[in-house]
Amino acid sequence: MTELAERVIGCCRRLATYSEEAGRTTRTFLSPPMRDVHGTLREWMERIGMRVRVDAAGNLRGLYGADDARRLIIGSHLDTVPDAGAFDGVLGVVMGVALVEALGSGRPGLSIEVIGFSEEEGVRFGVPFIGSRAVAGTLDGELPGRGVADAIRAYGLDPAQLPAARLSPRAVAYFEIHIEQGPVLESLDLPLGIVDAIVGQSRWTVTFTGRANHAGTTPMHLRRDALAAAAEWISFVESYARRADGLVATVGSVKVNPGAGNVVPGVAELSLDVRHASDEVRKVAVRAFETRARMIASERRMACGCEERLDQRAVPMDETLRAKLEAAVREAGCPVHHMTSGAGHDAMILAALVPAAMLFVRSPGGVSHHPDETVLRDDVARALECSLRFIRNV
Ligand code: HGY
Ligand code: MN
Ligand code: MN
Repeated sequence: MTELAERVIGCCRRLATYSEEAGRTTRTFLSPPMRDVHGTLREWMERIGMRVRVDAAGNLRGLYGADDARRLIIGSHLDTVPDAGAFDGVLGVVMGVALVEALGSGRPGLSIEVIGFSEEEGVRFGVPFIGSRAVAGTLDGELPGRGVADAIRAYGLDPAQLPAARLSPRAVAYFEIHIEQGPVLESLDLPLGIVDAIVGQSRWTVTFTGRANHAGTTPMHLRRDALAAAAEWISFVESYARRADGLVATVGSVKVNPGAGNVVPGVAELSLDVRHASDEVRKVAVRAFETRARMIASERRMACGCEERLDQRAVPMDETLRAKLEAAVREAGCPVHHMTSGAGHDAMILAALVPAAMLFVRSPGGVSHHPDETVLRDDVARALECSLRFIRNV
């Protein structure tokens, strides 16, 4: 497995060079470098006998085996955050192709479909999971915003064909291999983790609208400074989350208008990302953040907009598949460790349709969403070994 693991890592690092930005890895929904990713993976897929297509949501789909056989889906995402590492998402897709190669004649009566989802991070349009929700048929009827349909057309695809992107009724299970993206496995010196559940997440856009004005001539007591209001709110969000066990809340993006150093900010548009294993705790926190935003805005005589972009419930992984994955890890002689995922994954979308399982691979340094993100070759080899055993008895 070591040679195959080296090819997997080499492929991930090659795909990381396909980027919208020189010198760093940024690949958002259906951006031009996604064509190179699809081209490189298609070559490997077709070389090992897979039939390959790109669906109307821009998901790369490779099928190995009969159309009408029961189907195991192996997938993850091919889009990235800005200045990303080489393995978040991509590892799970490349591992899927490598597993098809390693399975050789496959498993009689079981086809394998490898899916490279087009949009899990939600960077381009602020809405995550577009690719996997198109496959799950849960895009709520229309695409989130005109921009998405335009991006699909610009890529040469037809949004009217989205219904054909839906998961095959022959699908019986979904399996995702993903880097842990955190420090737990490394702190325990473990190579792999079995995911029991994925925490729920809320994503909001919160906008403070004050009034832009001259930075030199406007006295402090006469200002309606949107960024100052935002700063007060961000401090509240952080202090609330610090006090709530297991809660994480992040304001990762701030857009200021007009954004000049000598102008009092008129508008501040913020992202909010809130996660917790309990949906109730998460929703109470989101309500508290929204209430506080509106209070700060009213005290400062400004407007406040709070728009929900995603309310994704916490998702347990399938019991039976978790047990089979545990058996496969044991048979491969690896230590078994069960854990919760603080990161969101396409598995939480597919789990609404078919039993889903996830296998985590150690993240050296606990780093992710960063160019230092990496994996160890022997951990990837172990993940291949365990996954092959899992597929043989899924
Ligand atoms: O943000 C996340 O949880 C994932 O990395 N998209
Ligand atoms: Mn990610
Ligand atoms: Mn990911």
